[in-house]
Amino acid sequence: VSSLKGKDLLTLLDYTSEEVQQLVELATQLKIITKEGKCPKLLEGKTLGMIFEKHSTRTRISFEVGMNQLGGKGMFMHARDLQIGRGESIYDTAHVLSGYLDGIMIRANSHAMVKELADHAFIPVINGLTDIYHPCQALADLETIAENKGELKGLKIAYVGDGNNVAHSLVVASAHVGMNVAVATPVGYECDAEVIAKAQAIAAANGSTIIITNDPIDAVINADVVYADVWTSMGQEEEAAKRLEDFADYQINDELVAYAKPNYMFLHCLPAHREEEVASSVIDGPNSYIFEQAENRLHAQKAVLASILA
Ligand code: CP
Ligand code: NVA
Repeated sequence: VSSLKGKDLLTLLDYTSEEVQQLVELATQLKIITKEGKCPKLLEGKTLGMIFEKHSTRTRISFEVGMNQLGGKGMFMHARDLQIGRGESIYDTAHVLSGYLDGIMIRANSHAMVKELADHAFIPVINGLTDIYHPCQALADLETIAENKGELKGLKIAYVGDGNNVAHSLVVASAHVGMNVAVATPVGYECDAEVIAKAQAIAAANGSTIIITNDPIDAVINADVVYADVWTSMGQEEEAAKRLEDFADYQINDELVAYAKPNYMFLHCLPAHREEEVASSVIDGPNSYIFEQAENRLHAQKAVLASILA
């Protein structure tokens, strides 16, 4: 996707709908040619610095393997081992890293910090999850749905759970491809109103709708895709007991998915807590695509890396 060369990926709100659609198509193409052993070495000699303030399995490994498949190198750094962990400024870190690396992928607590890093870096910065967005996850989600349902436009996706990072990016991504999206959260856990307003404008331009509700049945009714994330995100562990109570009526189980279309897809960004946000019968059932979805992180991110860094 040539218009993305040298750009950051902080949120899909910064991308056009055409760019998002092209990234999803490119992801599928890269998946096919990678499986044929023909992934092009577009990033030979390039190094992606990967900074993590939080745990990760999928994001870390898929970025590192993705760089490897594209002929480049991914370099893992935990933030606590860097001097930022001892208070070196984001400004100085951004300048120094720009002298060594071709791009930075960062998973951070604060989106504002990632924005500051991107503002001062002379190299592209890719968001690997913040408190408000998870754009790479949403691209892999679209890829997974497109590969199994064909056309994305006009489908209905229902997200049930906490209205935070994964939900925000899913709503924005769905709006870009004209997919109708419904989000059901408990009271007090709704999506950020500003993110939804921006997504509404994108959805309107693409002829789709966004439903925000506190009723899981309203969201799931007639859905083509049903999506879950954990109730307690990383960094919120001390709220876990309260969240278990607050989310008790929001479990995705057989009773709830009975309202979805019979051939619905179940997706979860993972990691999952079985019998909390999702019943085992659903996540391990015949409508679940969670491992294909996890694999697609690799291909969706190669599409991003190839577009931004090549
Ligand atoms: N879905 C996701 O981002 O997984 P990790 O936390 O394992 O990277
Ligand atoms: N909402 C979760 C997503 C993990 C990929 C979290 O922030 O921990």
